[in-house]
Amino acid sequence: MAYNLLKGKKGIIFGALNEQSIAWKVAQRAVQEGAEIVLSNAPIALRMGELNKLAEECNAPVIGADVTSNDDVNNLFTKTLEHFGGGVDFILHSIGMSVNVRKNVPYPENNYDFTFKGFDISALSLHRILQAAMKHDAINEWGSVVALSYIAAQRYFPGYNDMADNKAVLESIARNFGYEYGIKKQVRVNTISQSPTRTTAGSGVKGFDGFIEFAEKMSPLGNADADQCADYTITLFSDLTKMVTMQNLYHDGGFSYTGVTQAVIDQMSK
Ligand code: NAI
Repeated sequence: MAYNLLKGKKGIIFGALNEQSIAWKVAQRAVQEGAEIVLSNAPIALRMGELNKLAEECNAPVIGADVTSNDDVNNLFTKTLEHFGGGVDFILHSIGMSVNVRKNVPYPENNYDFTFKGFDISALSLHRILQAAMKHDAINEWGSVVALSYIAAQRYFPGYNDMADNKAVLESIARNFGYEYGIKKQVRVNTISQSPTRTTAGSGVKGFDGFIEFAEKMSPLGNADADQCADYTITLFSDLTKMVTMQNLYHDGGFSYTGVTQAVIDQMSK
C-alpha cells in the first residue's frame, strides 16, 4: 500500500545489486511513495547488468560511482544535481564489503590491506558521500540520510569479523556528521540496524543460515525482512520523522533488547 509519503521528493539510492538487495526494495518503495530517484553502484556492479531492470522499472538514471573514489562521488553529485535541476531530499547508503570476510581471514589474523579496503567501502564512504554532498550543497533543507548497520557494532558475533568494526565507525560517522549537517542545513543522518537478511552481502558471513535462524528465535517478532526494512527506511525519508537524527535505530523484531527467549531455552533443553 502506498501513502504518498515521498511525493515530490528526490533521492539517491546507493547499493542495489540484485532483487535481494535491501537498496533494491527501498528504491521500489520510494518510487511507489511518489519519489524520483537516481540509482548508483560501483562500476563492477553495473557491469553485471541487473540494475538496468530496476532503473527501467523506476524510470531512474544509473550513475556509477565507486564510493572509495572522491572523483566518482563528486561526479555523481554533479550529474545528479543536473538531472534533477536542484538538490535531493534523501540518500540511502546501503553499501558494505569486507575482503577479510570474503577471503575467510579470521579476525585475529586480519590482513590490514584488506581491512583498509573494507573500511573505506563500508564506513568511510558515508563520510565521503556526506562531505561531497555538503561541498555541492546537494541535500535540501530537512533532507534525510540513512545508512544500514548491524548490531555487531555493539556486540560480538562470530564470523562478522572486521565488518563489526566498520559498522561501529559507520554509526559514529552518522552521529558526528548528523550534528554538523543538522546545524548547517537541518539535514538528519541516522543508521538502521537491520536483522540478518538473505542478500549477497549477508550470505557472505560464514554460517549465515544458523545465524539467521538464531536471530529469528531470539526475536519476539521474528527477523525483519528486506521489504520491512524498506518500509521503515521510507518513514525516515518522510516528513513524519523530521526531528530524528544522529540515531542508530534497531529494526530487528526486538532482538536487541531480548535476553533470551523461551524458544531458545527449549532448544537448549532438548
Ligand atoms: P548487497 O550485497 O545487495 O549490497 C551491498 C552493496 O554494496 C552492493 O550493491 C555492492 O555493489 C555495493 N558496493 C560494494 N563495494 C562498493 C563500492 N566500492 N562502491 C559502491 N558500492 C559498493 O547486500 P545488502 O545485504 O543489501 O547490504 C546492504 C547494506 O545492509 C550493507 O551495508 C550491509 O552491511 C547492511 N546490512 C545487511 C544485513 C544482512 O544480513 N544482509 C544486516 C544488516 C545490515
